[in-house]
Amino acid sequence: MKHISNVAVLGAGVIGASWTALFLAAGRSVSVFDPDPETQNKVKAYIDAAWPALEELGLTERATPDALTFSQSAASVVEGADFVQENVPERLPIKHATYGEIEAVLPPHAVVSSSTSGLTLEALQEGWKDPARFVLGHPFNPPHLIPLVELTGNSCTSADVLNVTEDFYHDIGKVTIRIKKGMAGHVANRLQAAVWREAVYMAIEGVASVEDIDRAMWAGPGLRWASMGPTMLFHLGAGEGGLKAFCDHFKDTFNGWWDDLGDPRLDDDVIEKLVAGMAEQARGRSPQELARDRDRMLVAIQAATKPLR
Ligand SMILES: NC(=O)c1ccc[n+]([C@@H]2O[C@H](COP(=O)([O-])OP(=O)(O)OC[C@H]3O[C@@H](n4cnc5c(N)ncnc54)[C@H](O)[C@@H]3O)[C@@H](O)[C@H]2O)c1
Repeated sequence: MKHISNVAVLGAGVIGASWTALFLAAGRSVSVFDPDPETQNKVKAYIDAAWPALEELGLTERATPDALTFSQSAASVVEGADFVQENVPERLPIKHATYGEIEAVLPPHAVVSSSTSGLTLEALQEGWKDPARFVLGHPFNPPHLIPLVELTGNSCTSADVLNVTEDFYHDIGKVTIRIKKGMAGHVANRLQAAVWREAVYMAIEGVASVEDIDRAMWAGPGLRWASMGPTMLFHLGAGEGGLKAFCDHFKDTFNGWWDDLGDPRLDDDVIEKLVAGMAEQARGRSPQELARDRDRMLVAIQAATKPLR
């Protein structure tokens, strides 16, 4: 397999701009297409803002924000690309039209990976004559700071394509998982949805304030989950006997809690309550200020834990 040096980014909004910054930090040449006339300014501003964090996380030797070009069409951006990350709006007709434009001009060795959060591989494959080199590579926002990519292929995907994609993502510092069976939300968003469902339920029930429920997460299990996953952590929760001993000891407790978990809906009343709780917790800080604090902590946690992995 040819080394992946040239990356094309299709769609440079929230996700595409962040991928662009990461690909540059990994020493790749990046070419971007987005029909928004303000794209060049927006993407350059995004990269400038992201670069200090990327430096802290460790740039590759050849990394430079200058290895960036902009193209006028989806077809021209993929010419000469070894790898294409597609981040166009989450609408099937737009995705299909994009694939229709690029398929005939795509270099034969190139892989196309879609960032889609909610569309299935099968639905997206319908936009291709031959979807053999097309996969899902779902990132977590923002991709330049959160390592996870959820990879999906199926029987229409060429045998080598998932390996090539995975090797490339690993090379640029991503952590990948393979989705073996398509489900709405893949894995990570389902986990988030399960936890948030209970957080919302407890807020409605008045178990604690929205702020304290959030605090219980970041000061408790959230911190442990940044080191290991929930099943491994419970393997460590009952001494020498490991997970088996843990399950023997706590199975009735967990089965009881599972029976008792809430099933809320995000209706107007619930949303109002959550928004009021968030206003209290934010204490006048804007979402931009909070996002800066979040990103500083994400970088610090990863810089500290990277050498231990
Ligand atoms: N936002 C998230 O948290 C998140 C997380 C993971 C994955 N995703 C996925 O990433 C993809 C993009 O989402 P986003 O949040 O960046 O959306 P966005 O609206 O911020 O960006 C989409 C960009 O695509 C551009 N665009 C519109 N038509 C285009 C075309 N024909 N060709 C190329 N570009 C075009 C738009 O100008 C815009 O800049 C979606 O599939 C989404 O599901 C989003």
